[in-house]
Amino acid sequence: MNIRFKPPALPASGTFVLLTNSKELGKYGKQINKRTKGALARAVKSQGFEGKKETSLSLLAPAHSKLERIVLVGLNTGGLLTPLDLERTGGLIASICTPADNAKTSAKAKAENNITVLFDIPSEIIRREDGEKKTTQLAAHVALGALLRHYQFAKYKTAPKGKKKPKITQNLVLGVEKPTAARKAFAPLKHVAAGICLARDLVNEPANVLTPPDFAKRTRALAKLGVKVEVFGETKLKQLGMGALLGVGQGSIQPSQLVIMQWQGAGKTKQPIAFIGKGVCFDTGGISIKPSPNMEDMRGDMGGAAAVTGLMHALAARKAKANVVGVIGLVENMPSGTAQRPGDIVKSMSGQTIEILNTDAEGRLVLADALWYTQKRFKPQCMIDLATLTGAILIALGQEYAGMFSNSDTLCKRLEVAGQNEGEKVWRMPLHETFDKMIDTPNADMKNIGGRYAGSSTAAQFLQRFVNNIDWAHLDIAGTAMGAPKSPINQSWGSGFGVKLLNRFVSDYYEG
Ligand code: BES
Ligand code: MN
Ligand code: ZN
Repeated sequence: MNIRFKPPALPASGTFVLLTNSKELGKYGKQINKRTKGALARAVKSQGFEGKKETSLSLLAPAHSKLERIVLVGLNTGGLLTPLDLERTGGLIASICTPADNAKTSAKAKAENNITVLFDIPSEIIRREDGEKKTTQLAAHVALGALLRHYQFAKYKTAPKGKKKPKITQNLVLGVEKPTAARKAFAPLKHVAAGICLARDLVNEPANVLTPPDFAKRTRALAKLGVKVEVFGETKLKQLGMGALLGVGQGSIQPSQLVIMQWQGAGKTKQPIAFIGKGVCFDTGGISIKPSPNMEDMRGDMGGAAAVTGLMHALAARKAKANVVGVIGLVENMPSGTAQRPGDIVKSMSGQTIEILNTDAEGRLVLADALWYTQKRFKPQCMIDLATLTGAILIALGQEYAGMFSNSDTLCKRLEVAGQNEGEKVWRMPLHETFDKMIDTPNADMKNIGGRYAGSSTAAQFLQRFVNNIDWAHLDIAGTAMGAPKSPINQSWGSGFGVKLLNRFVSDYYEG
């Protein structure tokens, strides 16, 4: 989808989308109503369209017109418009205007594939939103929402024999008074969209394709954006003493990898902030094998690593003025003759030993070494890890909120606010000494599972044993990274959860 910003004008052809917050026709509404000889006003009346947000009214343009469709889209929130409202509205526009699978793709139809969007919002609402500047941002966020909705993971859909896959490029033309300002507001958002779509692609990709080495290879593409990418293979990981991470991957024929991505957008001396991702490319459970139903979902068990990669893309592409490192541990958890057994004791890079009582509690083992390494090498201002860590977080919070565990109230507040604003919400869950005790074992420094209860907290507590005196937050995204409910800006199984949230977190608190 191409995005264009132009001075507002009624289009001569294609689809015309008019954003409005009431049933009364505004400036452009009246113009188009005249052109359609009153058809628009009649439709509004007969359909009872009131301009409420996330509602729409679609009509075929009359025969004498070159326009194909006229669509009214409601924007009335009952109050101020937030960027998120506009993004969801942009998503709605993209969904209404997506050509059907069997759409004609003649040269002419292609050329006429324009969707023109105009804003018919009374000026007092725009003024309430802070005048000119906001008006341009309105359009930029509509465009972002449209891009996110437009995302598709269709690379494995082949065309019927003898036919070429139809390739329809839509042009979304947004009419704004100040196109240059709108373009400027959209520039960073376009890169955020690309980062989110990258994360979605990684999560959606099946595990026979996205193996740990393949994932690592894909991160190298970030070098083009100025990200320094290092990939460590098993020899290096052994040298570093990462016995916890390596133990998880030892049953797989795919070699484990650790990828370190660095973006330096601020002065050389500034301590970075660090993001660490769980990248289990497939989680069978290992010898503690999972039951078959829904096991295919475990191709998304690298959702944390995907979010970190997508975030690094977004930050570097938009040239964020911050120093950021992303570290992802990539492994495949398989049962085999070489797999780790329940009862095995491994030594982590930190020197602490771990008794493996369930090989399916593998994510924490990967993160233990990744967290330790990140903290030792980079001495970051703070560390945030993302992981599809526990099924228990789904039981506690469902799929609307990610679980958040942290040793810092400040970090929690920041993540909470960013999450609210971006529509990727987090909910703080408890860490406590009593949960920590639950992972003690007589045989080693700790075991990798707690008891029956508080599974997400004991997992987080395990991670905390690898965090020294540094601000840290752990986001359990098992419920939000994949298979989450569809929304106006996401129809994909892999949601890319975390990219939008953390991009905002960085821009609001670390780029000043
Ligand atoms: N990857 C899973 C967690 C998961 C479950 C993510 C469902 C998404 C959807 C994780 O590695 C796991 O298997 N956790 C176990 C831990 C248990 C063995 C202590 C779990 O949640 O059952
Ligand atoms: Mn597991
Ligand atoms: Zn897992």
